[in-house]
Amino acid sequence: MKSLIVYSSLTGNTRKVAEAIREVLGEEAALFPVENAPDPAAYDWVVVGFWVDKGTADKKAQAYLEAIRSKPVALFATLGAYPDSEHAASSLKNAAALLDGSNQLLGTFICQGKVDPRLIEQFKKFPAGHPHALTPERLERHREAAKHPDAKDLQAAQAVFAAIRDRLEPAAGQNRSEVTAACGETN
Ligand SMILES: Cc1cc2nc3c(=O)[nH]c(=O)nc-3n(C[C@H](O)[C@H](O)[C@H](O)COP(=O)(O)O)c2cc1C
Repeated sequence: MKSLIVYSSLTGNTRKVAEAIREVLGEEAALFPVENAPDPAAYDWVVVGFWVDKGTADKKAQAYLEAIRSKPVALFATLGAYPDSEHAASSLKNAAALLDGSNQLLGTFICQGKVDPRLIEQFKKFPAGHPHALTPERLERHREAAKHPDAKDLQAAQAVFAAIRDRLEPAAGQNRSEVTAACGETN
């Protein structure tokens, strides 16, 4: 099984998850930042990771996802919102919708990732009532996000991708159902 892991990451959160997934898929799994990613045609399956930007995959990941044809694909992502939120679910769904119909979605994983403090500083400037204004709830969410991805997130990602790999390896073409996970909040 030739596995390809491609990730798009601005501040390192998604890269960390990608590296954890690579650990579990083994040395022979190829790992590339999206900027240098190869054509997936030469691989048996592709894992694509992105950071959530405005409720979907970031632009670089979008372009990569849209170009994939006839591959089993699994997705993972990091985001500022809680991983069990509607926003997390719709962000994964929006990214999956970018895939051409010739591909097969094997599963997804999403966890929180710290939000760039410069962005939070910008949010602080918005007046109360603005959609991005910082409410106590949003500040708390950013404080929680600042702890992620943590060791538990990385282990959860590894478990999801090990399960997908185990289903793929015995016999390609056998029944493959989706594996989906969102990390629980940590205390
Ligand atoms: C410009 C920008 C837009 C973002 N949009 C969203 C968003 O729509 N929803 C969300 O939950 N997080 C959003 N985030 C937070 C990032 O998805 C999150 O911090 C992610 O873990 C960053 O990953 P990276 O370190 O791999 O770049 C945004 C961050 C930036 C910088």
